[in-house]
Amino acid sequence: MIEIKNASFKYPNDFVALEKIDLTIKEGEKVAIVGQNGAGKTTCVKMMNGLNKPFEGDVIVDGVNTKDVTIATIARKVGYVFQNPDEQIFNSTARKEIEFMPRYYKLSEEEVRQRVDHAVEICDIGKYLDTNPYEIPYPIRKFVAIAAVIASKPKYIILDEPTAGQDLHGTQVLGRLVDTLTNEGMTVITITHDMEFAINNFDRIIAMAHKNIICDGTARDIFWNEEVIKEAKIKKPAIGELAKRLGLDGRILFCDELVDKL
Ligand SMILES: Nc1ncnc2c1ncn2[C@@H]1O[C@H](COP(=O)(O)OP(=O)(O)O)[C@@H](O)[C@H]1O
Ligand SMILES: [Mg+2]
Repeated sequence: MIEIKNASFKYPNDFVALEKIDLTIKEGEKVAIVGQNGAGKTTCVKMMNGLNKPFEGDVIVDGVNTKDVTIATIARKVGYVFQNPDEQIFNSTARKEIEFMPRYYKLSEEEVRQRVDHAVEICDIGKYLDTNPYEIPYPIRKFVAIAAVIASKPKYIILDEPTAGQDLHGTQVLGRLVDTLTNEGMTVITITHDMEFAINNFDRIIAMAHKNIICDGTARDIFWNEEVIKEAKIKKPAIGELAKRLGLDGRILFCDELVDKL
């Protein structure tokens, strides 16, 4: 599991972006982190793979303190997909990008091929394998970045705003991808501004605001707590909003629940 214990983080300019965070993520969980821009979501997940080291408190990944090892060591376990694929991608074709980590790990040709095929299939990017990533449309380029991390087969994968810039199809591919990866035993952590994506695909939702976690629970715990919605500046999912305006009780969030009620 990933344990963040009383951890605070400050940037080199001394700006404190996280204050005394406590968070435990267990193996096999599907966790979505929501909250307004600047709340500290990215800073927080970058602590999970050692890119950010806390100045007080600790981050422990499977028993190992991120302060005691290199980023490369933690990254083998905790894969991080950047929000902006251009900060991550550096190879001249999508295939080279996706093969990069399996080859770096000196896996057999067969294993490299299998990993690439699998990642490409679940990211639905088969058509673009031999294209220069910078000639691939941005939303699909994001899937190249995701596939590259999937092919490195981390135990935990962090997706930073994967839904940003995606259309309905892209969001559906992401939903299926989250399911496939968790069924295969990976722990999936995402940051998202798409509340429907969060409630449809993640069992646990964490709301962040003002450098901290303000609520951690089920979709209903978050999206039927008006205080949390206001503090985190998030939106109640559309079906929930409709149920609220209709004055229905039962903390409805999903279409089938609304239909039943009506
Ligand atoms: N490299 C940096 N140097 C200084 N401040 C930063 C840096 N990166 C982010 N911040 C600040 O830290 C806060 C949290 O940022 P971030 O974790 O990116 O928020 P979120 O992902 O929730 O939008 C913001 O106020 C942001 O301006
Ligand atoms: Mg962010």
